[in-house]
Amino acid sequence: MSKGSEEIFKKVISHAKEYGFVFQSSEIYDGLSSVYDYGQNGVLLKNNIKNYWWRSMVQLNDNVVGIDSAIFMHPDVWRASGHIDAFNDPLIDNKDSKKRYRADVLVEEYAEKLLQKADKEVRKAALRFGDSFDAELYRETNSRVVDYLKRADSALSRFSLALNSDDLKAARQVIIDEKITCPVSGSSNWTEIRQFNLMFGTKIGSVAEGATDLFLRPETAQGIFVNFLNVFKSGRMKIPFGIAQIGKAFRNEIVARQFIFRMREFEQMEMQFFIMPGSEIKWFEHWKASRLNWHKSLGFDHENYRYHNHENLAHYANAAVDIEYKFPFGFKELEGIHSRTDFDLKQHSKYSGKKLQVFNPDKNENFTPSVIETSIGLDRMFLSILSECLEEETLEDETSRVVLRLPHALAPNQAAILPLMKKDGLPEYSKKIYDELKINFQLMFDSKDAIGKRYRRQDAIGTPLCITIDHETLNDDTVTIRDRDSMGQKRVKVADLYSIIKDLTSIERLLKKL
Ligand code: GAP
Repeated sequence: MSKGSEEIFKKVISHAKEYGFVFQSSEIYDGLSSVYDYGQNGVLLKNNIKNYWWRSMVQLNDNVVGIDSAIFMHPDVWRASGHIDAFNDPLIDNKDSKKRYRADVLVEEYAEKLLQKADKEVRKAALRFGDSFDAELYRETNSRVVDYLKRADSALSRFSLALNSDDLKAARQVIIDEKITCPVSGSSNWTEIRQFNLMFGTKIGSVAEGATDLFLRPETAQGIFVNFLNVFKSGRMKIPFGIAQIGKAFRNEIVARQFIFRMREFEQMEMQFFIMPGSEIKWFEHWKASRLNWHKSLGFDHENYRYHNHENLAHYANAAVDIEYKFPFGFKELEGIHSRTDFDLKQHSKYSGKKLQVFNPDKNENFTPSVIETSIGLDRMFLSILSECLEEETLEDETSRVVLRLPHALAPNQAAILPLMKKDGLPEYSKKIYDELKINFQLMFDSKDAIGKRYRRQDAIGTPLCITIDHETLNDDTVTIRDRDSMGQKRVKVADLYSIIKDLTSIERLLKKL
């Protein structure tokens, strides 16, 4: 991470804590590594993100329904899904720094650096050659650029081939051959690579002897697969259709860093779309485009998103793409779209002995549907939004303000009600307005400190509108309404407040863009 990016990331983390968005779990006991709590503003923002995802999936798609399955599942679920055998991370330790890394991440970061070097060369050449410059041709012919691209490609494909064939020695050799060093010690004194299963184990039952070993689910998807027939029958569904779910997942991440980007307890928003075998590519492309469109609907810089095709496919997938977001520490996975084939349903049929099939009247036969999955980490989405929206703005008078330019519909509070002074009946009148509007909106009431200071507090938590009640209000039932982004103020009637707040902050505005 460059110094500048590191500074930005530190600001996001400290802002999240200072303004009640995210706290370290069990902080008074010195914290629990890679586990976080959401504070009073964080939980509101998180719920708004969930609501936006849920409504765009379940409400806008006629053929998608939602469920909420239990975190505890029968242990055979994880045997069938392949997680017991194959849900592993390849770990490697540096003997000098004693630091532990995911070997695949070391190789990916190395390749990313080479790609960045190639991009830099191309940008430099573009400046040198001006309008006539052909970037594609330069990429294909400039020896230095070609070398960077070749090395990146070779490292990734060799590593992925080695991992896919379970050859951990060959995987390690890639790290040695490419002279990948430990970021802390700078040495290439590496241990062997070994696989580490990421599932947390626990027990159910009252006495030790009678207890059954369970796992905390590492993805919500399996709760959908095991309920496939229940939903299909009780909902009278027809192929193609989808089942969506939001819920907690748990992974014993070894290299858990980067704040809420990689956590041990996190939340996923997943949708499994059941389709006719043979239509995988069509639906894969459909959901790939649809999900990127969902991200772009938030109005953030489109340059901050990109697709990344998987080199190294998960044990269940035959095609996979990530939507990556440019976090302060670089482009990283935000959401995955996977073509899971009929792997999961067939495996659960095999292990449970129950046929998870549907009838095709055209062919007069039963078949196992294929599945396209969309899977997004809610906490990563939260982090991408905080990183994108936090801004330190220099104002015309050379002072600065910190403003969180959240999409209006996602802001924790839609408006703040602020009596200008704590006297002359202003707080009482303000409270009346507050009580009427709070039925429809999440509001803040703040009467402490000078009004300028209160505006700044609302800017920092992203409140789109500040409504100030002053002496004029008592005479003519009008208030001042201040816009977070422009800081412009205008006088409006109290009777119009409901429609003004609704127009600006309703989630329907976002949904209409999809
Ligand atoms: N059901 C498919 C599945 O779980 P995944 O790529 O392992 O696929 C899906 O995870 C999404 O869950 C990721 O794109 C990421 O946003 C989020 N995610 C995965 N591991 C995470 C972690 N340790 N902390 C936070 N989010 C995580």
